[in-house]
Amino acid sequence: MDINAYLRDHIRTVPDWPAPGVQFRDITPLLQNPRVFRVLIDQFVHRYMAPELRPDVVAGIDARGFILGSVIAYELNVGFVPIRKKGKLPYATVEESYELEYGSATVEIHTDAVQHGHRVLLIDDLIATGGTMMAGKRLLEKLGAEVIEGAAIVDLPELGGSHALRATGLPLFTLVDYA
Ligand code: PRP
Ligand code: ADE
Repeated sequence: MDINAYLRDHIRTVPDWPAPGVQFRDITPLLQNPRVFRVLIDQFVHRYMAPELRPDVVAGIDARGFILGSVIAYELNVGFVPIRKKGKLPYATVEESYELEYGSATVEIHTDAVQHGHRVLLIDDLIATGGTMMAGKRLLEKLGAEVIEGAAIVDLPELGGSHALRATGLPLFTLVDYA
């Protein structure tokens, strides 16, 4: 099966949302279809079941990274930790700010979310400029964890994010490219 084409068929492109010029890649049709959602999740689970890639923890990025990350963590039988937009986490946090394709944002993580030396799989739905995943990686590293890989459904390589992330030494795994 050509996974790229199969998944891409279930991702909707919404032009000029949330701002003029943005081609928004909407994964909700993919999540809505139980057969496609299972194929999607199995791609990640099979990869990260392998002993050399098996994480201690899965971290998911607010908000679409939660949908994928929690299911993947459940299937791998490891814990899930949320990286949230600023102001949502109740306990002590560390934070990082970054620029988006359409704005800027700050993300936070609880200071006790991971242990020093933990091997973490960092999950989001999409990599555009890479700012969000970079901020997530920096947060986890501030807490002494090692991000073994960043994973997402969609890469938008023209925005340069995946290239920049790989240049920092972060391995990436993505399933659908919009070149
Ligand atoms: C989107 C997407 C990624 C991020 C990617 O999230 O889900 O997290 O942008 O962009 P980047 O690579 O340029 O950083 P958004 O901030 O729109 O939040 P949402 O998941 O709550 O919709
Ligand atoms: N996040 C950043 N850019 C995006 C895009 N083009 N589509 C969906 N999510 C995004």
